[in-house]
Amino acid sequence: MDVFFGEWVSLLLRWFHVIAGIAWIGASFYFIWLDNHLTEPPDWKKKEGIGGDLWAVHGGGFYEVAKYKVGPKAMPKTLHWFMWEAYSTWISGMLLMVWIYYFGAQAYLVDPSIRELSTPAAIALGLGFIASGWLIYEVLCRTPLVASRWFTPVLLVLGTAYAYALVNTFSGRAAFIHMGALIGTIMSANVLIKIIPGQRKMVAAVARGEMPDPQPGLEGKQRSVHNNYFTLPVIFLMISNHYPMTYQPSYSWLILMAIIVITVVVRHYFNLSHRGIKRPILLVCASLAFIALAGLISWPGGSSQGVESDAALLTDEEGLVLVQDKCATCHAANTTDPMFPSAAAGVRLETMDEIERWASRIAHRTAVTRDMPFMNRTEMSDEQRQALVGWLKHRF
Ligand code: HEC
Repeated sequence: MDVFFGEWVSLLLRWFHVIAGIAWIGASFYFIWLDNHLTEPPDWKKKEGIGGDLWAVHGGGFYEVAKYKVGPKAMPKTLHWFMWEAYSTWISGMLLMVWIYYFGAQAYLVDPSIRELSTPAAIALGLGFIASGWLIYEVLCRTPLVASRWFTPVLLVLGTAYAYALVNTFSGRAAFIHMGALIGTIMSANVLIKIIPGQRKMVAAVARGEMPDPQPGLEGKQRSVHNNYFTLPVIFLMISNHYPMTYQPSYSWLILMAIIVITVVVRHYFNLSHRGIKRPILLVCASLAFIALAGLISWPGGSSQGVESDAALLTDEEGLVLVQDKCATCHAANTTDPMFPSAAAGVRLETMDEIERWASRIAHRTAVTRDMPFMNRTEMSDEQRQALVGWLKHRF
C-alpha cells in the first residue's frame, strides 16, 4: 500500500474526529450550562409544568428556553435529539486508533523496552483493557455505590490500576491514548445505553398522553454528569501525544492520574460557578498542583537523566554523523524508515544548519524525555545520548 495513502486516511479520520468531538463536547457543555443557569419561571409557566426558565442573547437574536419538570402535555411536532455527536466521535476515534496504533502496532503500540508483544497479542490486550474497563464501570453504576460518596474514590483507585497496567504494557503514548479511548468508550456507551433509552421512554410516555416516569430521566442525568466530569481528562489524554514529558517517565501513570484529578477539580469549579457558587480556592489549588507537577517532572532526577559526562567531546564531523545515523532515517527529505514516508513532524536533521536550528529540541527529546529516536528504532545508547547532548551544548 502506498504510504502516503495511509497519511491521508489518518488526516481525514483525525479531522472528522476533532470536528465530531467539538460538536459533542460543545453540546454537552451547553446543556450543563443551561441546566445550571435555569431560574424559577413565572407562575403562568409553572402552571404549564415548566420547572426552569432561561433567557439568552446570541448571534443577533433573543432565545427563551424552558425546561419542563418532567415533560410537556403533548408531543411537539419536531423534537431534537443529541446522540450522533457522541456516536460519530467514538466511531471515528476507534477507526483512527486502529489505523495508527493497530496497523502500525510495532511502531506505535509495542515498546520492546517495556514489553515484547506480538501484534495480535498487543491488539487483543488493547481492546481487552478498553472493554473490561467499561464493563467494570457499568457494573459499578448498577450498584448502590454510584449514589454514594465513595463512587469517585473507587473510580480513581480503579483508574490508577488501569493506568499502571497500561504504561507497563504499551509504549507511553499508546498507554495514554488507550486510557483516553477507555474513558471515551464509557462516555459514548452512557449515551447509547442509558441516556438515549431513558429519553425514549419519556418521549413514548408523553406521546401516549401520560405523565413520564421521572426515574429513567434521573438515571440518564446521572450518567450525563459523569460524562461532564470526564470531558477535560479525555481531552488532555487525546492531545497528550504532543507532550512526551507527560507519558515518557517511568511513573507516567502517576502523572496521568494527577492530571485527571486536577482537571476534574477544574470542571467542578465551573459546574459550581454556573450555579452561582463561587469557590475560587478550587482553581487556585488546581493551578498550584499543576505547577507543582510540572516542577516535579522537570526536577533533575525526575524524568531527566544526567546529561553531564566526562566522555571526550565529539568533533563536528562525529556529531553530524551521529545525528544522521540515529535521526535522519525519519528526519530527512528522503526518509529510509518505511513507517515514516515524509520527514517526521516536518523536522529535517541532515545538515549542521538544521541541527543548530533544532539544537535545544534535540537535546530535550534525546536526553530529557528520551522519546527520540522514536521508540528507539535506531537503537541509540545512553552513552551516545550523553555524547550528543554534550556536543550540542558545547557547540551551539
Ligand atoms: C523512527 C522514526 C524517528 C526517528 C529515528 C527519530 N524521530 Fe524524531 N520524530 C519522529 C516522529 C514520528 C515525530 C513526531 C511525533 C512527535 O513529535 O512525538 C518526531 C518529532 C521530532 C521532533 C519535533 C518535535 C519537537 O520536539 O519539537 C524533534 C525535535 C525530533 N523528533 C528529534 C529527533 C532526534 C534528535 C532524533 C535522533 C536522536 C530523532 N528525532 C529520531 C520520528 C523519529
